[in-house]
Amino acid sequence: MPVYRAALIGCSRMGAFIDNEVVGYSAVHLPYSHAAGYAACPRTEIVACADLREDVMAKFGEAYGVPKEHHYTDYKKLIEKERPDIVSVATQPEHRAEIVIFAANNGVKAIYAEKALSASLKEADDMAAALDRECVIFNMGTNRRWDNGYDRMKEIIESGDLGALQSFIIYANGTLFNTASHNFDLMLRMNNDEPVDWVQANLHGKDEDLFDGNILKTDPSGEGIIQFRNGVKGYALLTRRGSNFEAICEKGTITARNNGQTWELYKSAPMDDSGRHMGLFQEPLPDIERRSSTLTLVEDLVHALDTGEPTRGGIKVAQANMELIFGFIESHRRGGAKVKLPVEDRTLTLKRQRVGGNTPKYEA
Ligand SMILES: NC(=O)c1ccc[n+]([C@@H]2O[C@H](COP(=O)([O-])OP(=O)(O)OC[C@H]3O[C@@H](n4cnc5c(N)ncnc54)[C@H](O)[C@@H]3O)[C@@H](O)[C@H]2O)c1
Repeated sequence: MPVYRAALIGCSRMGAFIDNEVVGYSAVHLPYSHAAGYAACPRTEIVACADLREDVMAKFGEAYGVPKEHHYTDYKKLIEKERPDIVSVATQPEHRAEIVIFAANNGVKAIYAEKALSASLKEADDMAAALDRECVIFNMGTNRRWDNGYDRMKEIIESGDLGALQSFIIYANGTLFNTASHNFDLMLRMNNDEPVDWVQANLHGKDEDLFDGNILKTDPSGEGIIQFRNGVKGYALLTRRGSNFEAICEKGTITARNNGQTWELYKSAPMDDSGRHMGLFQEPLPDIERRSSTLTLVEDLVHALDTGEPTRGGIKVAQANMELIFGFIESHRRGGAKVKLPVEDRTLTLKRQRVGGNTPKYEA
């Protein structure tokens, strides 16, 4: 079996060093960063890296055994010289579309790009066109899609034991690009990536701090309702309950608490003799051995490269995610109106004054 040659573009936290931030946090199962995922997968090897910050690349080289002659400050040169099979794009959303499109147009076979997909819907459209035209395999790093804890949530919903899914609650939606992109992806997957009909939403913050014409100046927090075409309703709340997610079905509920550290299953009791509903009762849910979602995502890319079969993610679900982000923004701009998806205006663009450039934690 071939070992696929992987290259990293963006060698900072999610690219390479975030593992050191989450040691001992039981919601996350290592490896977590892209580079740690490739290093743990026997079917991939890291051959080169690119970053605008040479000091970050130097640390990356030491940590992952990539010699200086394979470090690039110009990602185009990396792709042209190294001809990698897989490219990771772990930059910020403002710096994603151009890199993904160049990689797709220059022979890269598979791309693992971070969330949120891009800074605008127009960029997402252009990325999808390039990836489709060049038949490039794609996964976006919304990790819960590859997390076996949430696989079990999906299996329970699909078993039909609880009846049909009716609602999905996100308790702490957070900022749309950074955090809600994860939450939206989870909700979409739990509802089988069914199409969304409309959204209705509200953002936090004053409009003058959020918008300057067609520029979105910051990544805003947003709450709202998502109406799927199959009748399922999503509720994205902004409460202090943290990363809790709940699937509510006709005859029971399944809840992930504290970012999937604990799980609860409730089933409806049978009706009493007079037809009264007797409430919900907790049923035990055995622990399962959790594994790294990043490694599963990398293995999904490898499987697609080996077989030509589709990945669990793909550009279509990444685009659906972007429609929700921009649908929320559009609804807010129209005073909380229902906004039909896809969103009409493709030009609104995230352009923050200070973009990323975080200091990675180099040691655990
Ligand atoms: N999936 C997750 O759980 C998760 C967790 C953390 C962060 N993220 C996402 O990962 C992305 C990166 O986050 P971060 O905190 O590591 O960001 P960061 O800003 O610290 O790192 C981005 C890196 O990309 C480099 N870069 C920018 N433009 C470049 C270019 N043209 N060529 C080469 N390098 C370039 C920067 O120099 C920087 O080192 C964000 O989109 C963030 O939302 C995802």
